[in-house]
Amino acid sequence: MKRREFVQQAMAAAVLGLSREQVAHLLRSEAPPLPSDALYERDPRWYWAEMRRQFLLDPNHINLNCGSLGVCPLPVIRAVAEHLFTSEAFNEPDYPWWGYAENEHIREVREELAQFLGVSRDEIALVRNATEAMNTVCNGLDLNRGDVVLTTDQEHPGGLCCWQQKEARFGIRLRYVKLPLPPASKEQILELFDGALTPEVRVVSFSHITTTTGLVLPAKEICALARERGILSVVDGAHAIGQLPLNLREIGCDFYATSPHKWLLAPKGTGVLYLREGVQDRLWVNIASGEWNNKALKAYRFSNLGTCNLSLLKGLLAALRFHRQIGPERVFARQRELARLVYEGFQHLPQAKLLTPDHPELWGAMTTAQFPEAEAERLRRVLTEHRIRVGGGGPRLRISTHIFTQPEEIATFFAVLARALKT
Ligand SMILES: Cc1ncc(COP(=O)(O)O)c(C=O)c1O
Repeated sequence: MKRREFVQQAMAAAVLGLSREQVAHLLRSEAPPLPSDALYERDPRWYWAEMRRQFLLDPNHINLNCGSLGVCPLPVIRAVAEHLFTSEAFNEPDYPWWGYAENEHIREVREELAQFLGVSRDEIALVRNATEAMNTVCNGLDLNRGDVVLTTDQEHPGGLCCWQQKEARFGIRLRYVKLPLPPASKEQILELFDGALTPEVRVVSFSHITTTTGLVLPAKEICALARERGILSVVDGAHAIGQLPLNLREIGCDFYATSPHKWLLAPKGTGVLYLREGVQDRLWVNIASGEWNNKALKAYRFSNLGTCNLSLLKGLLAALRFHRQIGPERVFARQRELARLVYEGFQHLPQAKLLTPDHPELWGAMTTAQFPEAEAERLRRVLTEHRIRVGGGGPRLRISTHIFTQPEEIATFFAVLARALKT
């Protein structure tokens, strides 16, 4: 092998977190074509088995934790790698801006994301993840001592700690809705929010899909309750893009944070923040650089973070196109079909208490069961020994199902679990 090729491969391996052999393979081979619609109609099992060839996943491991981190398919990895290699030739006619003013590459990503999310490009900021998006909103808002922010007891630190820091630093007050485990109905959840959205509340901040149990909160109705009382709504939708059909205009929130590197299968370190046009001017930027106060930039003011990683944004665009090419409806249906297998599997284990509600409106593709805490820890150890990765902490096991998940992997997971529970 030529020295140049060797260096290229070693560099890509380091950047992409792959072995040099995997990179060599990747750069040599085109991604296999997507399985055809005809195959889907004829034999969906085979179609989804074929789909697995789009992923580099090690067949000796079972990955049931897409909720923490998604898995990039080959077209996404290729898009990142190709940009990385071609851009370093620095042969563009213009100055090769990686960030600062919005260039054509960034515009394209914002445009397609905006279309996908049912909003306008001027309302989309690109950041690194949902945590950064939530911090951008929280730190950018002027709130006074004593102002109340309503949230829930099921938030992820990435969407909660910004408010807790504001509480410690500026004396705002946090109030928590206690979500039932599991809730009986959407109406029960709405009653809890309705009762808690009192006149001192300035902001309501909640997860669209909770990290703990995969519960899908009725975001549209909660935002409507907030709006009719003049309360700002901030939705932490880290898990939602790629797991739920999303139209942010219909949801009617003021701010929406999401992490495409989870369910949209985008490169790690890609995040999206939606800022409704009417509320953008109420926010200070979190990271100030040139044009920090140029409100004419609209949402781009919050993307102006200095130099960024265009290669990852190319991957984000490829992930969005991959999702659309398969078809969101088909992806969501498959995620749920597999989640149903998980649900039924847990139902057959008397030791498991299901925390995810069995209701299509309140449940997507993450299913959580609770065990006595020491038992859950032991089960996690056994699963790790069998190279099965699951999510959840403390007493909970959380199982995520996506299009790369095979039904046989779910069967293996339950076989290992059932054996471990007998010992
Ligand atoms: C509800 C929720 N919000 C925020 C985050 C943080 O996501 P990220 O690490 O992509 O910022 C997570 C991560 O799992 C999450 O579950």
